[in-house]
Amino acid sequence: MTQVETLQVDLTDRGYQILVGPNLICNAAQYLSPLISDKPAIIITDSNVSQHHLEKLTNSMKDGDIAYTVITLPAGEDQKSFKGLQNLISAILDKKPERNSTLIAFGGGVVGDLTGFLASIILRGIDFIQIPTTLLAQVDSSIGGKTGINTQHGKNLVGSFYQPRLVLSDTTALETLPRRELLAGYAEIVKYGLIGDKNFFEWLEQNGRPLVDGSQKLRKHAIIASCRAKAKIVSKDEKELGNRALLNFGHTFGHSLEAETGFSEKLLHGEAVSIGMVMAFDLSVQKGICSPKDAAQVRAHLASMGLPTRPTDVPNQTWCSDALLKHMAQDKKVHKGKMTFILTRGIGDTFITSEVDNTEVKALLAEAIAV
Ligand SMILES: NC(=O)c1ccc[n+]([C@@H]2O[C@H](COP(=O)([O-])OP(=O)(O)OC[C@H]3O[C@@H](n4cnc5c(N)ncnc54)[C@H](O)[C@@H]3O)[C@@H](O)[C@H]2O)c1
Ligand SMILES: [Zn+2]
Repeated sequence: MTQVETLQVDLTDRGYQILVGPNLICNAAQYLSPLISDKPAIIITDSNVSQHHLEKLTNSMKDGDIAYTVITLPAGEDQKSFKGLQNLISAILDKKPERNSTLIAFGGGVVGDLTGFLASIILRGIDFIQIPTTLLAQVDSSIGGKTGINTQHGKNLVGSFYQPRLVLSDTTALETLPRRELLAGYAEIVKYGLIGDKNFFEWLEQNGRPLVDGSQKLRKHAIIASCRAKAKIVSKDEKELGNRALLNFGHTFGHSLEAETGFSEKLLHGEAVSIGMVMAFDLSVQKGICSPKDAAQVRAHLASMGLPTRPTDVPNQTWCSDALLKHMAQDKKVHKGKMTFILTRGIGDTFITSEVDNTEVKALLAEAIAV
C-alpha cells in the first residue's frame, strides 16, 4: 500500500491522521480496528453512497471482525437540519450506543457535518471517523472538525468544533461521483490556491481539466495539497480565532446565494463558493487593492472548468440584492455588527478585514446580479 499518503493534523489534545490513496474503503478494517472498541461501530451513510460503496466497507469490516450497524439517510442537504438531526438521533439511540461507541461518517459533506455534530452531542460526545466520498469532503469538510446543521436563519449556524479520530480519503470512491459534484469540490481546491498559494493555482490552471476528467494521479496530488494546506491552518487556529477564517474565502457571498436558492440542487455549495470567490475578487478590485487582471484570470479558470462565476449563471433564478445582503448580515462572520470579509491583494494573497462599507457591498451585489 505504498500509494497511501499519510498527513497529520497537529492539535494539542486531539490530533489525527488523514490517509489519502486508492482502495482505502476495501482495506478500511486495518485502519479502523485500532480505533474501534468492541461495541458495534455505527456507519452513517446516504442512499447514493450506500448503493455504490457500502458493500466494500462492510466486507472489509467483516473480514477484520469489526462489528457494525448501518443507518442509511436519504441523500441531500435537507438532512443537515433540525429534523434530520432529530431523526438521526433517534435512529442512533435505538441502537443503544455507549460512551466508547464509534460513529463512521461514510459519505459527502452532508453526512460528515451531520454525523460529526451528532458525535459531539450524543452521550456528551463519542468518537467519530470520517470516510469522505466526495471531492469536496475529501479536500475540505472532513478535515478540521467543523460540524453542524443549517437553520432557516442560514447555513451551519448551529454546530460545534469536534475533531474526527481519523480521516480515510479513498480516491477510488470518486469514480462514481457525478461530474457536477466533482466540479463543486474542485472549486474548494481552487480556494487553497487563491488564499495562499499562487503556484498551486497555476498548477491547477495547467492540470485542472485532466484532474476533473479522471486522472487519479492528479486528483491525489490535489487532494493531498489541499489537505496539507487546510491541516496547516487548522493546526494553528482550531477554533477560528484568526487565520482559519481565510478558509471562508468566497463563503459569505456563497452562503447568501445558497440561502436564496434554499440550499437546494439549484446551486451546490462548491458552485456557490466559485461565484463567491469571484465576487470577493471583484470587491477587492472595486476597492482598488487587487488588479483587474488577477480577477479576470480567476474567473477565466473557473469558467473554463465549467463552474458558475456569476449569480446570473444560475438557471431560472432571479436575485434581489437586498435579500442577499440580509443573508450576508446573518452569516456568522459578523463581529460587533460589522461583516468580516476575506479580500485579496491578488492570487494567493488574501487577508481578513471588516473595513468594508455596506454601500460598497450593495454596489457590488447590484452589479453582480445585473450582468
Ligand atoms: N465542515 C466543513 O468544514 C465544511 C466545509 C465545506 C463544506 N461543508 C459542507 O459540506 C456540504 C456539501 O458536501 P458535499 O458536496 O460532499 O455534498 P453531499 O454530501 O450532499 O454529497 C453530494 C452528492 O453526492 C452523492 N455522493 C457522495 N459520494 C458519492 C460517490 N462516491 N459516488 C456517487 N455519489 C456520491 C451524495 O449522495 C449527494 O447526492 C455542505 O453542507 C457544506 O456546508 C462543510
Ligand atoms: Zn466550503
